[in-house]
Amino acid sequence: MDFKDILIRRRAINFFDPERNVDDATLREVLEEAAKAPSSFNLQPWKVMVFRNKERKAELRKLAFDQPKVSEAPVVLMILGDRDGWREGNQTFEDFFEHAMTPDKREWFVNTTKGLYGTNEMVGQAFANKNAGLFAMSLMYAASDLGLHTHPMDGFDHDGIRAAFDIPDNYWIPMLIAVGYAKPGLDIHPKGWRQSPDDMILRTY
Ligand SMILES: Cc1cc2nc3c(=O)[nH]c(=O)nc-3n(C[C@H](O)[C@H](O)[C@H](O)COP(=O)(O)O)c2cc1C
Repeated sequence: MDFKDILIRRRAINFFDPERNVDDATLREVLEEAAKAPSSFNLQPWKVMVFRNKERKAELRKLAFDQPKVSEAPVVLMILGDRDGWREGNQTFEDFFEHAMTPDKREWFVNTTKGLYGTNEMVGQAFANKNAGLFAMSLMYAASDLGLHTHPMDGFDHDGIRAAFDIPDNYWIPMLIAVGYAKPGLDIHPKGWRQSPDDMILRTY
């Protein structure tokens, strides 16, 4: 699909066809495509929890302000951003190091990432969310390209979800993404107001 068509086709879909599943192969393809997203040092500080089970989705829906799409979509992805993904000893960090770095660079790398993302809690939080957010965006475009529909959600009880699903402390949950196919006959409204380039340029130097 032409990228311009993907941009237009991707919408936050409220009503999914509960009868139409997203098979594992398709979901894997979406994740593989999404993994091409950029990230700080290519650390890829994100993980995904996949919800397919009806009971677990119902539990998640209760914690997401009872949004029906959480149970109607065949798949809901919980996107996790790793706040400690820059830190030596953390799994994200060590996986990256193993695949993409050589031991002689370790000291430099440990100190550089600590200097950039480890100065206070807010920068660690930003690190997790900017990277996981870019991943999430790529995922939604990849899904759209494959004929799927998605809906990102941050309307949920973060602490409630953390407790109910035993999410380790190092992860923040920037959003849930419902994935599936739009309900047949769904009337998709035209895209809402968008800032024009003039609106969005705060300053030009
Ligand atoms: C991070 C994020 C969180 C969102 N959370 C919710 C949500 O909890 N519930 C909801 O109905 N829509 C949610 N939305 C959808 C937005 O309202 C929607 O993307 C926006 O109105 C633009 O519409 P479009 O995505 O169809 O272009 C969220 C979108 C984003 C990016």
